[in-house]
Amino acid sequence: MTAVITGSTKGIGASISEYFAKEGFDLVICSRNNKDLIAFKEKLESSYKITVHTLEVDLSKKEDILKLCSYINKLQSSIEVLVNNAGSYIPGGVLTEEEGALEFMINTNLYSAYHLTRGIVHKMSTTGKAYIFNICSIAGLQAYHNGGAYSISKFALNGFTKNLREELKEKNIRVSAVHPGATMSNSWADSGIAEDRIMEANDIAIAIWSAYSMSTQAVVEDIILRPQLGDL
Ligand SMILES: NC(=O)c1ccc[n+]([C@@H]2O[C@H](COP(=O)([O-])OP(=O)(O)OC[C@H]3O[C@@H](n4cnc5c(N)ncnc54)[C@H](OP(=O)(O)O)[C@@H]3O)[C@@H](O)[C@H]2O)c1
Repeated sequence: MTAVITGSTKGIGASISEYFAKEGFDLVICSRNNKDLIAFKEKLESSYKITVHTLEVDLSKKEDILKLCSYINKLQSSIEVLVNNAGSYIPGGVLTEEEGALEFMINTNLYSAYHLTRGIVHKMSTTGKAYIFNICSIAGLQAYHNGGAYSISKFALNGFTKNLREELKEKNIRVSAVHPGATMSNSWADSGIAEDRIMEANDIAIAIWSAYSMSTQAVVEDIILRPQLGDL
């Protein structure tokens, strides 16, 4: 059993990777920093009896996404789980954010998931029980002040997820949209927000594992998670 998790070295991606590792999955992990990848691989392989494959890629670039697809397709292992997690967050308003903000976040937050999924879904369909999780956001469910390009990109990712679920029903590949609210990670590290005011990255991992563990007749279409005290 192998899980592919993008943006795996920090935050939510690192927690999901560790959760699947703990459950005995081999992993394919990627980020833009090879040193972080190797350090995380060594940590996981020394803690759990699994194999971790790593690839340094910038998923905002299509040629790197295709490189990752080809790397995964050449692996002997079957791929049961794909978590499209890598994403960039730059707050700003539609009328005030920097030129290029939308292109950048559409590339990283939407096209990475779109092209990677298209590139490896055939390999996943051979397992007969695969699962794809797209890490969307509550920012993709409702407009809010300074949402801008980030919010637009997450609405688009949600649209991609819905269409993908429809198309993959007959192939027995389950597809979930995961919509977290504020979750402790890099984005929040310097915010001054108390750690206990927002969710832990592991909370998202628990929710994903719980959906994955259900019978293959059941799909959790949307997972919406918020801090107990509400959005910030
Ligand atoms: N944290 C939240 O409050 C929150 C809420 C809702 C949704 N989300 C979503 O959850 C996902 C993870 O967020 P996070 O807060 O955990 O982020 P994070 O702590 O900043 O971690 C992002 C991970 O993705 C990698 N990454 C970023 N850009 C990449 C790129 N272009 N190519 C390859 N790897 C890349 C990073 O490694 P490198 O920098 O080394 O590449 C890192 O491993 C994102 O899609 C985000 O939009 C987060």
